[in-house]
Order: sequence, then C-alpha cells, then structure tokens
Amino acid sequence: MTEHVYIEDIAAYEGKEVTLKGWLYNKTDKGKLQFLLVRDGTGVIQAVVFEDDVSPEMFEAAQTVTQESSLIVTGTVREDRRAPGGYELTANDVEIVQLAEDYPITPKEHGVEFLMDRRHLWLRSSRQHAILRVRAEVVRAIRDWLDSHGFVNLDTPILTPSSCEDTTTLFDTDYFGDRAYLTQSGQLYNEAHIMSFGKVYCFGPTFRAEKSKTRRHLMEFWMVEPEMAWADLDECMRVEEELVSYIVQTTLKNRAEELKTLERDTTLLAKVAPPFPRLTYDSAVEILHRDGVSIEWGDDFGAPHEVALAEHFEKPVFVHHYPTQCKAFYMEFDPERPEVCLSVDLLATEGYGEIIGGGQRTASYEYLEQQVKQLGISRQAYEWYLDLRRYGSVPHSGFGLGLERTVAWICGVKHIRETIPFPRMLGRMYP
Ligand code: 4AD
Ligand code: MG
Repeated sequence: MTEHVYIEDIAAYEGKEVTLKGWLYNKTDKGKLQFLLVRDGTGVIQAVVFEDDVSPEMFEAAQTVTQESSLIVTGTVREDRRAPGGYELTANDVEIVQLAEDYPITPKEHGVEFLMDRRHLWLRSSRQHAILRVRAEVVRAIRDWLDSHGFVNLDTPILTPSSCEDTTTLFDTDYFGDRAYLTQSGQLYNEAHIMSFGKVYCFGPTFRAEKSKTRRHLMEFWMVEPEMAWADLDECMRVEEELVSYIVQTTLKNRAEELKTLERDTTLLAKVAPPFPRLTYDSAVEILHRDGVSIEWGDDFGAPHEVALAEHFEKPVFVHHYPTQCKAFYMEFDPERPEVCLSVDLLATEGYGEIIGGGQRTASYEYLEQQVKQLGISRQAYEWYLDLRRYGSVPHSGFGLGLERTVAWICGVKHIRETIPFPRMLGRMYP
C-alpha cells in the first residue's frame, strides 16, 4: 500500500509514489492522455493518466469519470513549474469510488438563488472554499489573541429569559409553558462572568429576527464578545484595535493564497495597525452634514452613514459617545452629558460598515433599574442582572465583533451570505 498523503504536503514527496484521495474537480481529454484535476480539501493537483501506463479498463474509467466523482489516485510526484501548485502526479492507478451524477454546478455562471439552493454543493467551489478557509483563520486568530491576553473563554446560554438588544428582533420559543428567547448576545452573562474571572469572552451563534433584507444581516450569526472588569471606554477601544489588527495581519500572512483566489486587493488591509482614528458621534454628524448626507442628531447611523464616514479614513474608525436614546439599555451614560453614552462602534474600511459594537456598561443599580423598566420584558427576567450592581458593582466594558461581517470585509465579498457555510436569511432556511 502506498502512503495516503494530502495535496498541501505534496512537495515533501517529490519523486516518490503516493496515493491521493479526493474528488474530480475538472478534466481535460487529450486522447492518449487524460488530465484529471483532483482536489482533496487541502489543495488541487493535476494527475496525468497515460494510456500505456494503466490497464484499458482503468484508462476508460479515467476517460469517462465525471465532475465531482470521488476517486483514489496513485502515482509518482513530479515537479512541474507550469502546474498550479508546482507539482503534478503521473498516475499508475485510478480507482473511481463513486461515479457522480450530472453535477449541477458547472464552470459557467449561475444565478445566486440557484447556487443558494445548492449551498451544500456550492461549498466545494474554489471561491467558497477560500472564503471559509479565511473564516476558520479569523476564528483561530481571535481565540489565539484572547487566550494569550488573559481572557477566559466561558460559554453563555442560547436559550434565555431576557433580551440584550432590540426587543423587536427576538426569536421566541416555548420553554415548558414559559417563553424563552434565542440569545441576541452573550453580553449580560459575560458581565456575571467578569465578576468572578476579571476578563472573559464568549464566542458562539447569536440570533436576530431582522425583518429587512440587506447584504450585511443574517438571522443567525457568530459573535465573539470580550468583557473586562475595571475597563473604561478608552481601554475598550485599545483592546478592539489590538484584536482587529492581529486578526487582519494574521489572516493576510496565513491565508495569502486564499486572498489571491478571491482577487482581494489587500493594500488597505495591510495598513490595519493601532491606533485607529477616533471620532465622537457629534463630530461624525458634522462630517456627514458637510458631505451632504442627511442625519438628525439623535438618530442611529445606518449603512449609508457608516459608509460615508469610513470613506474619510484609510483604517477602521471608532465612533463613540452616541446619543443615549439610540443605544441599548445597559450603556453607561456620560456623567457630564447624560444625553450621550459611553458606547463605541468600529466601522471597517471600504464600505463594510460596523463590525463591532460595544462600550462601557452602567455600574449604577438605580439607573439600570430604571432602564430595565422601559424594556417591555418583565423585570423578573433581569433580577439576576440587577444583582451584579448590588454585589460589588465595578466600571466595566466590552464589545461584540460580528464574525461574518469581519470575514466579508477581509475577503472583500459584497454579501455576508457567502461568509458562513449555511446562511439563515430572510426567506431562506434551506438547506
Ligand atoms: O452592535 P451589536 O448589536 O452589539 C451587541 O450585541 C452587544 N451586546 C455586543 C457586546 O457588547 N458584547 O452587535 C455586535 C456586532 C455588530 O457590530 C455586527 O458586526 C454583528 O454583531 N451583527 C450582525 N452580523 C450579522 N447579522 C446581523 N443581523 C447582525 N447584527 C449584529
Ligand atoms: Mg451595533
């Protein structure tokens, strides 16, 4: 038996005989020579089958094998400068494991609905493969950075009695006669965790019943949420710019091939390093007015505002001190100007808009109690959260980074649906 190797390791086997297990990506018929493009998840390589080197049955199998058939190919690794990965395989054995039926996704252009209906197959294409490899790299970078900077990873519940963000975007479900909501954010639980662990993060799926169709909203998305006891708004921004810079630079280094496949121009990404510019909401509104973008003081920014603002900068930009009225109930207010709060959003470059939301949480029991009353969800569901201000309340801050928006930005893909294996969108839950 020849050793089974992965295509990404092929360079170490030059001149040796190896076995590859994978799928037929593409094929060229040159009469006595069959060129099989084989992919195995780690790479793509051309296997050359010469009529005189194999049995007639085997040659016929190579001649008639269909796109996406699973196969096992044994042969000798040869260096070939013209080949995509620098190597090719001279095959002496080809075994078709399953002959695929007519594959619906061909190299020709397909409409996006057609592809979304076949998302389970679309994932095999080189572009989707590249995006999801970047996603995995971003996840790893996030964990690496937080784990090596004193953050303890603790999971937060998915079924919750309370709401963290906008109560109009809750998914609810029956919980043995009580009402439960799918989590919108692990933040409130993180706030309990920091009083025991100091610095923590949760990283998991979160849910929002977003009733509008946009290219940056999913119903189910992943968010990493760091939270820090004793940290103020300023410290929060420092951590955000360090983390985001690490994510971007690590991905540029480790996923250069994938970004090339995606034809991503990385000029601006290469510049992502601390410090990031910081703007108050007030000065952001001034900039928008100067640009002729309509906004009234007090309104939250939408995509058009974020895009217009970010155009002024070559790096991601912080906007802080939003009006208290347009942010969530838990935000600390500015003691000198209670109409604004200690919140901060991070806006990415190149039109990708908000990728992080966060800020300083209120430490005051009285203020929080008053805010909870206005939520429209029973106070009972927040009793435990109020407790955190009864027993050793401290100033604290944290934020949530949306994984899919970050991946879309780094990859330069226009629509967030391609950045998660199986997107949940308005009007789509299949496959
Ligand atoms: O700004 P958001 O709503 O903040 C929170 O949920 C805080 N509780 C987080 C915290 O402070 N721990 O959401 C944070 C980020 C956004 O900046 C965005 O990147 C992403 O989550 N996000 C979405 N991504 C995809 N689809 C959606 N529907 C999203 N909603 C928010
Ligand atoms: Mg937000």
